[in-house]
Amino acid sequence: MKPLIVANWKMNPSSSKEADILLNTIKSEAKVLPADIVICPPFIYLEKMQNPAFNFSLGAQNMFFEERGAFTGEISPLMLKSLNVTYVILGHSERRWIFGETDEAINRKLRSALRARLRPILCVGERSRDVAFATNFYEQEIQEQLINCLKEVSINRAADIVIAYEPVWAIGTNKAASSDDALSAMLYIRKVLTGLYDRKIAERIKILYGGSVDAKNAFDFVKGAKMDGLLVGGASLNASEFINIIRRVV
Ligand code: PGA
Repeated sequence: MKPLIVANWKMNPSSSKEADILLNTIKSEAKVLPADIVICPPFIYLEKMQNPAFNFSLGAQNMFFEERGAFTGEISPLMLKSLNVTYVILGHSERRWIFGETDEAINRKLRSALRARLRPILCVGERSRDVAFATNFYEQEIQEQLINCLKEVSINRAADIVIAYEPVWAIGTNKAASSDDALSAMLYIRKVLTGLYDRKIAERIKILYGGSVDAKNAFDFVKGAKMDGLLVGGASLNASEFINIIRRVV
């Protein structure tokens, strides 16, 4: 199976022209690489990136759960669908901890994304490393996030979901998890998914690692920790680093 490599550009770059340059550099280098690549730019760059000749999938970084109406400042799943967006990141820790998104809101968004035939990339991960790993508390945090965010998601739709294991302490800190810890978290996530659905579905759901991924550690997560792919933040804004990440894992 080809690894799934997702670029989360977050609130970058700050001009449309810089977004073009970044995209074109990635495009020209990555088109021959056998990975499934998803680029998640800010909403306002999605429209110009929906080029059918383009061999990447497009993803959004968030959405609202209603389809239309008086919700100032929000973007609906139908709008994303109309721009040929395939994936949507939901429950990113920056949405949870800066913007106060709850598991309940994330669950509504996730079900709404599936209704619109978008593929959600659901982020889960523990907030603190020390307490978490010393006590196995991280398992409890991840289990709660999975159970709450996947509530009422039927077994026939579950395989469309991608889970990103993103320990919050590893995001943007240059302190990635070890590949052993990522492997344990991945196995634990599959165990919870098996309980929620069944073994076959749990094996079909892709699980990514995210948190300070770079070209040096990418291989350890995909080949060592057997992750199905990566969710890359900061390093995806540097075209050559991003291409090197992909090269290391294919
Ligand atoms: P990072 O971000 O790669 O910059 O740590 C990952 C993410 O937030 O998805």
